[in-house]
Amino acid sequence: MYLIIFFILLSITFIFSYLYGGIYVVNQTVETMRIGILTSGGDCPGINATIRGVCKTAINHYGMEVYGIHSGFRGLLDNDIVPLTDKDLTGLLNMGGTVLGTSREKPFKKRTSSTSENKPALMLKNIKNLQLDCIVCIGGNGTQKTAAKLAQAGVNVVSIPKTIDNDVWGTDFSFGFDSAVSIATDAIDRLHSTASSHQRVMVIEVMGHKAGWIALHSGMAGGGDIILIPELEYNIHNIGNTIIERLKKGKAYSIVVVAEGIKTVDGKKAAEYIAQEIEYETGFETRETVLGYIQRGGSPTAFDRNLATRMGGHATEMIANGQFGRMVALQGDAIGSIPLDQAAGKLKLVNEDHDLIVQGKRMGICFG
Ligand code: F6P
Repeated sequence: MYLIIFFILLSITFIFSYLYGGIYVVNQTVETMRIGILTSGGDCPGINATIRGVCKTAINHYGMEVYGIHSGFRGLLDNDIVPLTDKDLTGLLNMGGTVLGTSREKPFKKRTSSTSENKPALMLKNIKNLQLDCIVCIGGNGTQKTAAKLAQAGVNVVSIPKTIDNDVWGTDFSFGFDSAVSIATDAIDRLHSTASSHQRVMVIEVMGHKAGWIALHSGMAGGGDIILIPELEYNIHNIGNTIIERLKKGKAYSIVVVAEGIKTVDGKKAAEYIAQEIEYETGFETRETVLGYIQRGGSPTAFDRNLATRMGGHATEMIANGQFGRMVALQGDAIGSIPLDQAAGKLKLVNEDHDLIVQGKRMGICFG
């Protein structure tokens, strides 16, 4: 019985490898391994530190060959790759963005009639021709999904979570998040003085996609009076009352931190909508600020540099140990990993009993 199941699985593997171009273990020993590394999706602070961590460990510790793939998965379709040496990895630790470039190319997305190209087959053929033994995929949720599909197609994949949004499932934190929170907190700090001088309500919109991590962390660290996140429902009358009650206590200004992903009407942007509603509800002069891409740019914090470095080093160790099809993850204080198909397709959202919410509510901060 077991023998039959074994042969069925073997045949499926061979059919798949025939269709897509092969199973990818080319160079047998660790020292002769050729690894490709790519960065995909939105950029964030800390990506270059991870590239440095992966590649320096691969070259200096394991003696592997490393190839940088340009513009995410698009580089695998275009054969756009370059060999990387230790010298190429100098100066990357504190550099923002990604030296490899990025794109939102999704090669496994369903083909439409206008795009007849079989991207998965082309990509798998290229990986085989380039003799890459493993692909390191650095990215957010979209990238984890593509990486999981690549692994299912027989490629050796190790992925690393990166996003300012902190919403990749299976890791306690992703690098980029701490840097974004620190930038947003600085912006909120600066709004306090101008809000106080003009006795205004200031609404600031921060990124986070469908999750409220940046709003929650920067809102609490920046002393926000009202914090709105997509995970918690809000009531505009409640928000208005909170602002009026603050005035009665002699607090002439209020800071409102909103996540970009909160629900609004008529497709209005979060800050625009909330500022309009507050002015209508309270009659107070209200101004809005959308922080935008500043949160993604520039140098990573010390925390992100070290998290990125550790994740990079562990990813290479996983390659050397043959632990493929997995995503590196921060688990408490330790770096571990989880199967890619467990992480892919799920969002890590803020729980309503998160300690910052519980403590914030007790202090009188309004969460909607
Ligand atoms: O995923 C990071 C993120 O910055 C989100 O917070 C934001 O919604 C999105 O990317 C916008 O990125 P882009 O304009 O590059 O698609």
